[in-house]
Amino acid sequence: MKIDIVSVFPEYFEVMNLSLMGKAQAKGLLEIKAHNLRDWTHDVHHSVDDTPVGGGAGMVMKPEVWSECLDELLGFSQPSGSPAPSGAPVLIFPNPSAPLFTQRDATELSHADHLLFGCGRYEGYDARIPDYYRAQGVDVREYSIGDYVLNGGEVAVSVMLEAITRLMPGFMGNPDSIVEESYTGEGALLEHRQYTKPAVWRGIAVPDVLLSGDHGKVDRFRRDEALARTAEIRPDLIAALDCKALDKADRKT
Ligand code: ADE
Repeated sequence: MKIDIVSVFPEYFEVMNLSLMGKAQAKGLLEIKAHNLRDWTHDVHHSVDDTPVGGGAGMVMKPEVWSECLDELLGFSQPSGSPAPSGAPVLIFPNPSAPLFTQRDATELSHADHLLFGCGRYEGYDARIPDYYRAQGVDVREYSIGDYVLNGGEVAVSVMLEAITRLMPGFMGNPDSIVEESYTGEGALLEHRQYTKPAVWRGIAVPDVLLSGDHGKVDRFRRDEALARTAEIRPDLIAALDCKALDKADRKT
């Protein structure tokens, strides 16, 4: 998967060379390139923002700089009005006022060949930027990573990228670890709690059933715990559950 990121702080993404993300790049599974938006400016101050039309605090990112940058990275050489070039990347803007980014989005995007992220700063970017590229036929997404406001899109892009890339085939050493996780599969539940050895630590014992060697009982215990924890912590996930994802024993829980 090819990933381009545009930011006024491209150095921020040097961390992508570490850990599993770094390994995936070394294996050729991922190719991540961070670009500096200021490289597409023409003025001596390399300015990327201006005051908001209609008044208000802060600054808004200018559409002209973004369009020069995005036209180039999207492979748009024709004048406006022509369709998006075939194989154009999915264009993603983090935005605290957008729909929430979920595991479902991460799963869908993990199958893409090319993603292009645009990191906003200040009070955000001119709203015409995503509108324009959508109108040109580009698959444009805007996502929030949670109900809080960050200083810019860089952290949000890191979060989304990690959630997306770890789902790519070949990324994880043990792909089974993804299948059993929270938010995964038809009946998205919080995951059951995990324990390791010793069986008793500081006087606290792991649940007996986990030591029983009876896989059926262990699975049932974990499933009941997942259902109970989800009902307590995230009732919204229970409400959204597809009934077909529940078995007979679940209905008694
Ligand atoms: N930019 C600032 N805050 C954000 C958030 N919560 N999600 C996505 N992008 C953001």
